[in-house]
Amino acid sequence: MPYVDELFSLRGKVAVVVGGSGLLGGRIACALARVGAKVAVVFNRNREAADNRVKEIEGHGGEAMKAQANVLNKLEIQKVRDQICSRWDKVHILVNAPGVNSTTPVLEITEEEWHAILNTNLKGIFLCCQVFGELMIKQKERGSIINVSSVSSEVPLSKVFTYSISKSGVNSLTRSLARDWASSKIRVNAIIPGFFPAEQNRTILTDERKKSILDHTPMGRYGEPEELAGVVVWLASERASSFVTAAIIPVDGGFTGMTI
Ligand SMILES: NC(=O)c1ccc[n+]([C@@H]2O[C@H](COP(=O)([O-])OP(=O)(O)OC[C@H]3O[C@@H](n4cnc5c(N)ncnc54)[C@H](O)[C@@H]3O)[C@@H](O)[C@H]2O)c1
Repeated sequence: MPYVDELFSLRGKVAVVVGGSGLLGGRIACALARVGAKVAVVFNRNREAADNRVKEIEGHGGEAMKAQANVLNKLEIQKVRDQICSRWDKVHILVNAPGVNSTTPVLEITEEEWHAILNTNLKGIFLCCQVFGELMIKQKERGSIINVSSVSSEVPLSKVFTYSISKSGVNSLTRSLARDWASSKIRVNAIIPGFFPAEQNRTILTDERKKSILDHTPMGRYGEPEELAGVVVWLASERASSFVTAAIIPVDGGFTGMTI
């Protein structure tokens, strides 16, 4: 087997991508499948997008299924876990990429909106880690969890107040789980995508904001979803990233490394 396959191949592995019907989750699902993983695309509302991802993976000769769960509902996540296990028996890789956002100014944020964002972005990821983590620990095999955080998680970003707080929580959750589950051979890491125009940030990336973002990005452009493939495959691979856990890795054209 070529060395590159020894390092990175995910053949024989089962990956679950929560938010796999979204822009970034969808690309991540396809990337994991292209290196051999069987992939479950977990969607909430957008069944058509999930269908398209499954078809795209199958079109490349991969194996995929879709499954529906609202990450706010633990029972639904457990049902998805059972569906995946009844088809493929195990889960080795979990990518958590659900997310919602809002630009509401601080003093106008309602409790309802606060809960909606915190619950989807933080509690939802926690519940997915809990449900699939329990399975991975019982399997007694190596596992990799990859949470999708944000450039707003460490240093707050204007206009996305509650979102920034939720993503700080994702970083903390990632590090805490990495500590707790290292002895069970489960690695837990997060990626920090920079700016990738998508549905959840459509209203936020105005022309004015685009200018300030790109002025602050050494590479001077937005990211392409495909540019997350390499880092996710690396983190998913038990060989290539075997000593990497509790890492929070930016993929942002240099944005988080800069001051003015
Ligand atoms: N696009 C960016 O620039 C960017 C940057 C940093 C981080 N992120 C993060 O990347 C992840 C993916 O976002 P995206 O940009 O692809 O946006 P997207 O809107 O295309 O995808 C978001 C996904 O979250 C899912 N989702 C929302 N609420 C859910 C719920 N209750 N249960 C289950 N799924 C739910 C949606 O169905 C959708 O598939 C999010 O966590 C987002 O915060 C995105």
